[in-house]
Amino acid sequence: MKITTATLMDMKSKKEKITMATAYDYASARVVDDAGVEMILVGDSLGMVVLGYENTLSVTLNDMIHHGKAVVRGTKQAMVVIDLPFMTYQVSKEEAVRNAGRAIQETGAPAVKLEGGEDMAKTVEKIVRAGIPVVGHIGLTPQSVGQMGGFKVQGKNEKVARQLIKDAFALEEAGACSIVIEAIPRQLAELITEKLTIPTIGIGAGVNCDGQVLVYHDILGLQTDMRPKFVKQFGAFYNPMVSAMQSYVQEVKASSFPSVEHTFTMDDEIIAKLREKY
Ligand code: KIV
Repeated sequence: MKITTATLMDMKSKKEKITMATAYDYASARVVDDAGVEMILVGDSLGMVVLGYENTLSVTLNDMIHHGKAVVRGTKQAMVVIDLPFMTYQVSKEEAVRNAGRAIQETGAPAVKLEGGEDMAKTVEKIVRAGIPVVGHIGLTPQSVGQMGGFKVQGKNEKVARQLIKDAFALEEAGACSIVIEAIPRQLAELITEKLTIPTIGIGAGVNCDGQVLVYHDILGLQTDMRPKFVKQFGAFYNPMVSAMQSYVQEVKASSFPSVEHTFTMDDEIIAKLREKY
């Protein structure tokens, strides 16, 4: 059965933890979906972990749609959420609705995610009114990395903590179906989770959120670059992958690959005739 926004609400009411992981193509979506993860985020972290940019700001809506389509093709059960990239929803509500519409219409995913709290509530409301489920994202919002002065924990002081609570309420009131809460103190995430009726999905926000999200490459240990404090690697596949690739290189160079078992053959008579002629 496909996971829907109703499934997520049901899971929150039963205190069943929700899992979300990112995926960026058909192959990664199959891994995540086969593992039973309920929500797949086609995150704009795509820019950093797949496309090699320094941050998420260069990712375009066309990038998200291209990768989103592949993820949807690789997904049977999970609810796929497409991240709206930088500058596709900030300029006007109308543009936001149009771009959210493109994201779901062209990929076949049911929902979108955007960053921002109270300031984005009216935009979220418009998109929801157009019939598109929206996942909010507050706390550390990577598209505002310039304004935040880097990838830093948010909400440690009372003023920012109060604003984050307001942000969460504003998104819920605007009709968001769940909220990603990134890099805030666990006590604050717990308070927000208790007060909201919609599920919170934490990343660097402690164990008391309704669910957790991590980036595919971080879960599997597929990269050796920056690793934030809140990331736990559940696998360490980078080195084994490099080592498999090295074995391939060595065997090709030594002419030990392909061996007979990986080779097609033909009648000796036919090849003999061909050799005579040519
Ligand atoms: O883009 C992304 O991968 C995200 C998650 C880190 C929540 O927004």
